[in-house]
Amino acid sequence: MQPGELIEMARLARERAYTPYSKFQVGSALLDSEGRIHLGCNVENAAFGPTNCAERTALHRAIADGVKPRSFQALAVIGDTALPITPCGVCRQVMIELCAPDMPVYMANLQGDIARTTVAELLPGAFTSHDLDGGASN
Ligand code: THU
Repeated sequence: MQPGELIEMARLARERAYTPYSKFQVGSALLDSEGRIHLGCNVENAAFGPTNCAERTALHRAIADGVKPRSFQALAVIGDTALPITPCGVCRQVMIELCAPDMPVYMANLQGDIARTTVAELLPGAFTSHDLDGGASN
């Protein structure tokens, strides 16, 4: 699958965002190793803290659907930003937990600008399971 197709899926997922507070819609599409796409959008909450970003919605949804952590091929995210949208710090931490470090992340905006990065590039010096006593991951 081409990055443009994944970004288009993220753009469609963005339409489903629940954003009564920020009015800032974000969409995400996650490609798994079997070519399936898992969509995510941001889902906000009156208490603000429970708000879930589009990227985490897609990642957690895929895990709940039975996809093996770190087996994903690529993630796309799109928002109405001047430059390609950049994932928040919490999402970067979740990506480093659930995705391979070299997995591509395609960041896009509605004007068609696209930037490619990787999970590791998004969070240098990340705290991971290797830093925990025992260090095991499932
Ligand atoms: N948001 C995302 O869903 N992904 C990002 O990459 C940046 C921010 C959401 C969270 C919140 O619902 C809204 O955008 C404003 O921060």
